[in-house]
Amino acid sequence: MFERVIIVSGPTVEPIDPVRFISNRSSGKTGFHLANEAKKREIQEIIFITGPTNYIPSDVKVIQVETAQSMRDRILNYFDKAKVIVMAAAVSDYRSAEYFSEKIKKGDDRIYLEFVKNPDIIKEIGEKKSDDQILVGFAAETSNIFENAREKFERKNLDLLVLNEISKENPVFNEDSNQVFFITKNETIKLDKMKKSAIAALIWDEIFKIYNQMKVKFK
Ligand code: CTP
Repeated sequence: MFERVIIVSGPTVEPIDPVRFISNRSSGKTGFHLANEAKKREIQEIIFITGPTNYIPSDVKVIQVETAQSMRDRILNYFDKAKVIVMAAAVSDYRSAEYFSEKIKKGDDRIYLEFVKNPDIIKEIGEKKSDDQILVGFAAETSNIFENAREKFERKNLDLLVLNEISKENPVFNEDSNQVFFITKNETIKLDKMKKSAIAALIWDEIFKIYNQMKVKFK
């Protein structure tokens, strides 16, 4: 049914000097399960673009990247034919303003590092996408979760937002289970706590539901 889908997974890694970087705690499990679930559906080509992770699916086209900028460039290479783009990656919002070609040596008791903003990849895709492309984003929120999620859904021109509430009860990172909400144009749906693989299956069900509603719209 879909010619091509892109699943973007894992953290990004932003180098500071030859031995140091900043990154985040994303394991890449959700993206991995999304790829495995995609293989069970009617999809001709699955492109898996990922930052460094141990979770790499088999039998899909894998493109490994490190930085947010390279992630963005590779997504745009494959964007035109993609009917679905799922941004499950934890993109570093900032990178070091400077890359130090030599290792930074220990010196003062306190040092300062300047950061600059990375591209907001999903926002750029949201601006570029046409009416028959489905864009799925993720949000991890700790406060005012529904207001923030709805605002993100609108601002990034998404078709589906998978909302994680990060709390002591639901730590999310590196866990096998998670409790999420689906934010769509007209609904907010609470899912039970379940395995990430089960969530991935429900995300694909929701994507196909959105696609079928689009088909009705375009008839
Ligand atoms: N995302 C992205 N590019 C970025 C940051 C995030 O494409 N530079 C994507 C993520 O892959 C995710 C969605 O945007 O699908 C939401 O990520 P999140 O970190 O919650 O949103 P931000 O826009 O970074 O907002 P904030 O961190 O301020 O909550």
